Amino acid sequence: MSLPPEKKAYFFANWKMYLDVEESRVLANVLKEKYPEFNTQLSVVVFPASLAFCSAQNVLQDSSVAVGAQNVYWIEKGGYTGEVSADMYKKAGADFALVGHSERRHLFHETNHDVRQKMETALAVGLIPVLCVGETAKEREEGQTEEVVEIQLRAAFEDLVWPIDRECIIAYEPVWAVGTGVACDPAEAERMHGRIKELVIGLLPDVEPVILYGGSVRPENVRGYLEQKNIDGVLVGQASSKADSLLKLIEQFVS
Ligand code: PGA
Repeated sequence: MSLPPEKKAYFFANWKMYLDVEESRVLANVLKEKYPEFNTQLSVVVFPASLAFCSAQNVLQDSSVAVGAQNVYWIEKGGYTGEVSADMYKKAGADFALVGHSERRHLFHETNHDVRQKMETALAVGLIPVLCVGETAKEREEGQTEEVVEIQLRAAFEDLVWPIDRECIIAYEPVWAVGTGVACDPAEAERMHGRIKELVIGLLPDVEPVILYGGSVRPENVRGYLEQKNIDGVLVGQASSKADSLLKLIEQFVS
């Protein structure tokens, strides 16, 4: 079954810390050779590790695959050992940046306040931020899913002026589904996407949010998400870091 042609779709590949410089270059080449061009109704973006960003970008710069940063720092330049600024990524050819990925929030203690700073800076330098939100297993068990996601959204968008020409992309990634092999049921993801859409429109009435699902997406289950009304695409980690599953995933968008 193909996607309705009027609906733009998004396939975002978060390579996390799975691929080194050479592996990222090789996988970027596989992608470029297999798909020299995508239909404009499909947005494909890869997010390599910071060290591998330039090697992937060099391969993909004249292709229809965009390259994004997995994380950005909000100060332009200075004594911030180990950080890479949004501005540096933009100048190196990034178009997108993940902001507030659950691994940043939970493993590296990134706060809602940090996320807000990153959102503002990403917008200021001309990047499209991909805001990641989602609840932990404990929060879900305790019935706090919607509240947690709402707090994350309100904090990230607080007092932001959204540039009219910039897409507003949110990834709903329940923490318990990220990297675990336990994907969220598509109907439940759809319910959360509907809620997120409502909240974002309430916060930014002039934008039309794009909402991606992320968390253990595989070639076998991706269809279930793409068939949902409020799911515009997917953000895939592990399964996007190997050539065979990466190509199988993309086939679902182009067939
Ligand atoms: P996963 O990661 O597909 O490996 O669960 C998703 C993500 O973190 O974006």
